[in-house]
Amino acid sequence: MEKVAVLDSGGQYCHLIARKVRELGVYAEILPIGVSPKKLKKYQGVILSGGPASVFLPDSPQPQKSLFQLERPMLGICYGHQLMAHYMDGVVERGETHEFGRADLRVKHPKPLFEDLFRRQRVWMSHGDHVSKLPPGFITLADTRECSIAAMGDSNRKYFGLQFHPEVVHTAYGRDILWNFLRNVCQCRMDWRPEERVEQVETQIRKAARGRRVLFFLSGGVDSTVAYALTVKALGAELVHGVYVDTGFMRKGETGEIQKAFSDLGLGSLEVVPAQGRFFGALRDVVDPEQKRRIIGRLFVDIQDQILEQDGFTDHDWMLGQGTIYPDRIESGGSGSAAVIKTHHNRVERIQELIKEDRIIEPLGEFYKDEVRALGRVLGLPRQLIDRHPFPGPALAIRCLCSRREAKPEIDRDIDSLAKAAGYRAALLPLLSVGVQGDSRSYAKLTVLYGKPLDYRTALPLATKITNKFRQTNRVAFAVAPKKWRPAGCKIRRATLTRKRIQILQDADHIVTDFLRENGFYRRVWQCPVVLVPLTVGGGETIALRPVTSVDGMTAEAAQLLPSKIDIVARRLMALPGVEAVLYDLSHKPPSTIEWE
Ligand code: XMP
Repeated sequence: MEKVAVLDSGGQYCHLIARKVRELGVYAEILPIGVSPKKLKKYQGVILSGGPASVFLPDSPQPQKSLFQLERPMLGICYGHQLMAHYMDGVVERGETHEFGRADLRVKHPKPLFEDLFRRQRVWMSHGDHVSKLPPGFITLADTRECSIAAMGDSNRKYFGLQFHPEVVHTAYGRDILWNFLRNVCQCRMDWRPEERVEQVETQIRKAARGRRVLFFLSGGVDSTVAYALTVKALGAELVHGVYVDTGFMRKGETGEIQKAFSDLGLGSLEVVPAQGRFFGALRDVVDPEQKRRIIGRLFVDIQDQILEQDGFTDHDWMLGQGTIYPDRIESGGSGSAAVIKTHHNRVERIQELIKEDRIIEPLGEFYKDEVRALGRVLGLPRQLIDRHPFPGPALAIRCLCSRREAKPEIDRDIDSLAKAAGYRAALLPLLSVGVQGDSRSYAKLTVLYGKPLDYRTALPLATKITNKFRQTNRVAFAVAPKKWRPAGCKIRRATLTRKRIQILQDADHIVTDFLRENGFYRRVWQCPVVLVPLTVGGGETIALRPVTSVDGMTAEAAQLLPSKIDIVARRLMALPGVEAVLYDLSHKPPSTIEWE
């Protein structure tokens, strides 16, 4: 199969490049920047991704020197462009001005990257360093006002570098530039279609299983369902055993719905393992999100061990099937350079051990979410199942925030005066949630805006400004209800993971899902986590809504649902016993993550 390698220098945007390449019809794989150049010989072309570091720093991600002797078409993007210059005897300098955001590109030499495109075009930049002198053999292909070598190339060697990011939508012809590289330079056929891969994946499953039985833990989500259906198709239902662990953290009524869906699909029967007591017991006093994730992951594996024992599987004739998809593998630190933002439950230590023992089968390990959906459609799975919003493995446990101590809201004068300038007020809540800033993980406080009705035109830029400027906060939400929400009298209360709290969250989540469906918002947002926050006035709690738009969950924008509609769902939520306030998350990813934990 024709493929292109995307070398990862630590930027989370590396996925965007790989996805864009795949959308253009070429299979792309992400490899660490330090990969042996010998391994790259089987790739049709190599793309060096951007990254947060500077080529001068001693511990910045570096390629092997011989990478730049590779006789393969190469495209360096941002940091990758600078690496190319640095290693090929050009000069990279620390810039006096940093350039972020839009810039106007002036194309001098259209061939081959800018062929058939306008000579002036909008591009998106994000860099401090820049290439100040071309490597021998290269010419400048394009510049901007701030950046004299915005694109460079050596057509003989087929090496090209771009200071800007063609992978982001804000670069007007980014897609076309990548197309030109893949087609004109790499001479790719552009014929990768994930939906045509069903047979190939089945063959891979048979090869990996080598006659062994496969045990599958199903969550009812798209990934595990499609992975299971593919495995049943490849091996036959008698060799595949589906188990659904009822952790107690699923959505309201979900267990019954999933059982019914599987029997309707004729995918064999699903064994339901009741394990609520164990999960609640193990998480009783746990507040830290990473600890929650680790415990949940480990419990899943413990329960799996138990099932294996009681069902008489032996070491040699079984494997564990997982619905892990490509970004899960990379986001859990799979590619080497990327920082661990959140440990996905299917990459905990015990699973890593099983991987080493060759006892894990992951039929979807090479696919992105939308590609998985395409496979699901080919398999004839019902639309309702395929189009479901993604749902995290640790489920509602990581949407139920806990706190070990009581704490009062703080007024940070600097944040508040920034908010006042936009007509709002701001309170800083000592309630920590996870974020991803500068490609690494943050765990910081929540800012709540209040004091005037929500207007996205002012509130969204304000939210971005606050998280850009103040390190103590990584998430900004707006107080939707009550209308006169004030920090005075509120406090973060001590709270743990209890059945009662999960039940409130399930009811709230149910109300929000109904609301999204009835207003046509379900299709328009990528996901809408509903979060239970131990922020109280009179002993109750607060519900936070987190609707986002996204393509693959790697980056996301706060969705802009109509404020008048948000008021409707807020009223319904406020009618729930135990709910005293409703927040609406205005943060993008980065700097916040989609899930709060
Ligand atoms: P974050 O919160 O990292 O989430 O912005 C990105 C996407 O991944 C989902 N997510 C998970 N999915 N296991 C999963 O299968 C997990 O542990 C997990 N954590 C987050 C999240 O819902 C979003 O779609």
